[in-house]
Amino acid sequence: MALLEIRDLRVSFACGPAGGGRGRGAGAAEGRARAVDGASLSVEAGEVLGLVGESGCGKTTTALSILRLLPPGGRVDSGSIRFEGRDGTVRDLLAMGEAELRAFRWKEASVVFQGSMNALNPVQRVGDQIVEAIELHEEVEREEAVRRVKRLFERVGIEGSRAKEYPHEFSGGMRQRAMIAMALALGPRLVIGDEPTTALDVMVQAQIFRLIAELRSELGLSMILITHDLSVLGEVCDRVAVMYAGTVVESGSLGQVLEAPEHPYTRRLAASFPRPGGERRLPESIPGEPPDLRRPEPGCPFAPRCGDAREECRETRPAPRELGGGHLVSCLGGRRG
Ligand SMILES: Nc1ncnc2c1ncn2[C@@H]1O[C@H](COP(=O)(O)OP(=O)(O)OP(=O)(O)O)[C@@H](O)[C@H]1O
Ligand SMILES: [Mg+2]
Repeated sequence: MALLEIRDLRVSFACGPAGGGRGRGAGAAEGRARAVDGASLSVEAGEVLGLVGESGCGKTTTALSILRLLPPGGRVDSGSIRFEGRDGTVRDLLAMGEAELRAFRWKEASVVFQGSMNALNPVQRVGDQIVEAIELHEEVEREEAVRRVKRLFERVGIEGSRAKEYPHEFSGGMRQRAMIAMALALGPRLVIGDEPTTALDVMVQAQIFRLIAELRSELGLSMILITHDLSVLGEVCDRVAVMYAGTVVESGSLGQVLEAPEHPYTRRLAASFPRPGGERRLPESIPGEPPDLRRPEPGCPFAPRCGDAREECRETRPAPRELGGGHLVSCLGGRRG
């Protein structure tokens, strides 16, 4: 089986009466908004999966569900998230208790957020913060943990001696690298990057992507890289999953999804993807709006905005269909010329 396999995940958030949350319209007294609505995806050992889709489609919520870190009010309603541990046993993360989860986070899977670099404690030396994280999870001598942090720093391109400095002595890019070092500190098999470079300038972004590519080939790490930016995908990803309104509408290799997109939504996205030598087009806007998550519709969530939608599309939620070579699409329509 894959390292990680998410099946038909549904996650909702409580939204109060009358326009609570970000849903539209007057709701029932106590409503829930479906942030993730039947998402399925998988990550193979050693691969980097790019997760893309417009703002609010459920990328972060999916990532937080994997680590069982949903904020208060968020709840997994159904589905399964199976993960193959280092010892080869496959467990459903949704069935884990708190103690098991503590052993799982950082050691098996960790996450780097866009704003992670601001999560460092400003009054504690950067290296000490990572040493403490290691000591919390493993029985190690302090000297050994300190040596490990130095090696990790060098691994992410920061001089080991700078572990003694405070966060304000680091640039933004260095702080983000330090957070990547922290995410690697306990040797996880899966690292999730949720827009890990969005707040950084393009030069630093390029360095971080190079680092990700190196880590992946040297440590055999698996990653999920969440991004808005399709041009990031080609840099480091093997496969792509495209989310729309809480579901994965298409997934496959980079070539399958970006060069031969099958889902009408992916085709719109891919049309704005810049190609070397090609003319640069601005993303076309898609008429209509994403669906109201407080009232999930039975059919395809893209149907109201899809030029090819038929009656059937509004009534039946399409299941992922295999097109060959691992290319999956959730669309009832056939390919149009
Ligand atoms: N803490 C929360 N409380 C209520 N609703 C939430 C919460 N977090 C997310 N949501 C809702 O869940 C939906 C999915 O949000 P999510 O943050 O997962 O999207 P995203 O794809 O990561 O978007 P972005 O690209 O902007 O980061 C959105 O409608 C959002 O408003
Ligand atoms: Mg997000």
